[in-house]
Amino acid sequence: MLFDPRPKISRRDLYDRELELRVLDEFARKGSPILVVLGIRRIGKTSILRVFLNEVNLPYIYIDARLFEEHGFRKDLLYKMLSDGLNKLRSRWTSILKYLKVLEGVEMGVATIRFNWRGKPLSILDVFAKLDEWASDNGETIIIAIDEAQLLRYLKGGKGRIDFTEIMSYCYDNLRNLKFIVTGSEVGVLKDFLGFNNPNSPLYGRVRDELTITRFNRDKSIDFLEKGFSECSVRPPYNIIEEIVDRVDGIPGWLTYFGYKYCKKPNPEIIREVFNEAKMMVLSEIRKLPSKYYIYALKAISIGYRRWKNIKQAVELWINHPLTNAQISRVLQTLLKLSIIEKEEGEYRIMDPIIAEALKEL
Ligand SMILES: Nc1ncnc2c1ncn2[C@@H]1O[C@H](COP(=O)(O)OP(=O)(O)OP(=O)(O)O)[C@@H](O)[C@H]1O
Ligand SMILES: [Mg+2]
Repeated sequence: MLFDPRPKISRRDLYDRELELRVLDEFARKGSPILVVLGIRRIGKTSILRVFLNEVNLPYIYIDARLFEEHGFRKDLLYKMLSDGLNKLRSRWTSILKYLKVLEGVEMGVATIRFNWRGKPLSILDVFAKLDEWASDNGETIIIAIDEAQLLRYLKGGKGRIDFTEIMSYCYDNLRNLKFIVTGSEVGVLKDFLGFNNPNSPLYGRVRDELTITRFNRDKSIDFLEKGFSECSVRPPYNIIEEIVDRVDGIPGWLTYFGYKYCKKPNPEIIREVFNEAKMMVLSEIRKLPSKYYIYALKAISIGYRRWKNIKQAVELWINHPLTNAQISRVLQTLLKLSIIEKEEGEYRIMDPIIAEALKEL
């Protein structure tokens, strides 16, 4: 179902994205060791990644780094995710077990692999090295897919922070049969974390492929909604379709959300209700930003103050005291890195129209 609100896992439920799936496929067959998939929130990164993994016919381990936000940025959770991933692999690629069980700290149950890293010298690199050995002996490539990888920057273990970019860089240099796909909705933050252009980063100068997921154009947005509604046997008047398309600017997550809700309650009034719900959702996300300056800067942009100087003036007026140039620059820089705003020819713009509308009313 196109309007299923969860990330898609099957091509049947994924609208379009043929090109993106082809890029992923080519990466797996002959690309560089790392593919970075970028795109704003709700654009469809997870869906494209999961559909690809589902179809690719290669062993893979999928790590959803958002789970660290829920359960803590802990090394044991990373091991748990790895062992869960391996448990999924073992049913088909059974010989992997032989390679892993020689590692101290790897426990083989009847139906599960468990990592016991406490007090034992098991490291993620040992596990990856064994996976690489297996892949090399069997002519395979193993994909390590990490969704929202920028969150790994908070990862902690026994003695403090774990530098996942060091792990990736070791794999890049030494383990030729592992490939990484990392996604991120905070594009600038992910790029900073990976540090391909930062001489102090372990991944500095490494070659990688990059794929940016973009919005649907107007025609595709309309077609997506029409197909989705037809699947649910709901026929809204054309002006409802146009209204949704006008409000969400081609972001598939919002098209899906509006479509799903309208199918459940097909009357024109519901659109306003859903729009309000969507605004509440983004506001709760925006309120996690570190200070009220961010909210005011976004509000300024949403009501038409597009240039640095005007945004600064508007924020100063609302907070009733002056800000330094550095302060306002830092706020805008962070919003850019989080992919909440973009800058073109000196003008800032909010990337998601739902966020822009929500901020206007604050
Ligand atoms: N091409 C598509 N066809 C059908 N549904 C889609 C498509 N792309 C995205 N969706 C839907 O939009 C929503 C957001 O998709 P998804 O979670 O894959 O995006 P994302 O970029 O990973 O979002 P986030 O940044 O919030 O993690 C989901 O409900 C998903 O089912
Ligand atoms: Mg996602």
